[in-house]
Amino acid sequence: MTVPEQVNTIVLHHSATSNVAGELALSLGAPVFTVHTKRFPDGTANVRLPTEVRGKNVILVADTRPDSAIIKLLLLQAALQRGGAARIDTVIPYYAYARQDRRACKEGQPVAAEVFAQLIGQTTNRVVVVEPHNQSFMGCFGESAVSASPIREIAEHLESFGVGFVLAPDEGALPRAKEVAEILGVPFDHLDKKRVSPTEVRIVPKELKVQGLRVAVLDDMISGGDTTAAAITELKRQGADRVVAACVHGLFLGDALDKLRVAGCNRVVATNTVAVVPYGKVSCVPAIVRALQEGQK
Ligand code: R5P
Repeated sequence: MTVPEQVNTIVLHHSATSNVAGELALSLGAPVFTVHTKRFPDGTANVRLPTEVRGKNVILVADTRPDSAIIKLLLLQAALQRGGAARIDTVIPYYAYARQDRRACKEGQPVAAEVFAQLIGQTTNRVVVVEPHNQSFMGCFGESAVSASPIREIAEHLESFGVGFVLAPDEGALPRAKEVAEILGVPFDHLDKKRVSPTEVRIVPKELKVQGLRVAVLDDMISGGDTTAAAITELKRQGADRVVAACVHGLFLGDALDKLRVAGCNRVVATNTVAVVPYGKVSCVPAIVRALQEGQK
């Protein structure tokens, strides 16, 4: 398919990111194309651009999990470069390797967050990552890489819940909780978490002034649910009224949602980076648009 000459920007995506890509295309007034991947008999991926890209600004909305999505992403960037795209912006709604950062790596382990960031940053003008967990590896995507924060949109959504206190389940989550609390004009605090195993966390007891309040527990992601569930248990023990579990990336793996419910969670809110409705109620797209507008390489 050929895109009319007057169209400067197009949005491309490969399957799992279709909700974000479609909404982004709509808000930019750009056409959106899906890339389908074929597999050769030996299992290798074979991608082909669905449209002419010569001279176009292409926004590639890319998935990074499972691992095969990263192969597709790299092949697509190469195809765009070879096809003569004027500019390639790679948008990553959820960077799956973010938690394997320098701080988390033990002896004998690679800093996987940096390994894939370097590869993804090679054939693109800029990378935009929604809530990258931390900034330590962002430079590996290239000097113009930016993060997109949907915290403002999460705060607006929490307003309707009458939140009177925001809690970060661990110290790393504190800056986000503080930002939401400041937007809402309510107090905030954080807990100290010790991860005992991949599926068990322990919260260091700490007095919180939450008696009778509606509280939002805010983290960058809810994966297995143990971190947020432990925080909710502590809040309920200290007399919190209702609790909303909020995050950017709602992975909700395994029985995560059950763990939240059993702990006493009254509502779950995530953005649509990973989760879809009913939990992915908050759109990350306005944050991506803001990041894309932040100057160009
Ligand atoms: C950890 O540093 C992250 O910010 C999250 O707190 C963590 O990944 C959540 O994982 P889970 O839901 O499995 O406890």
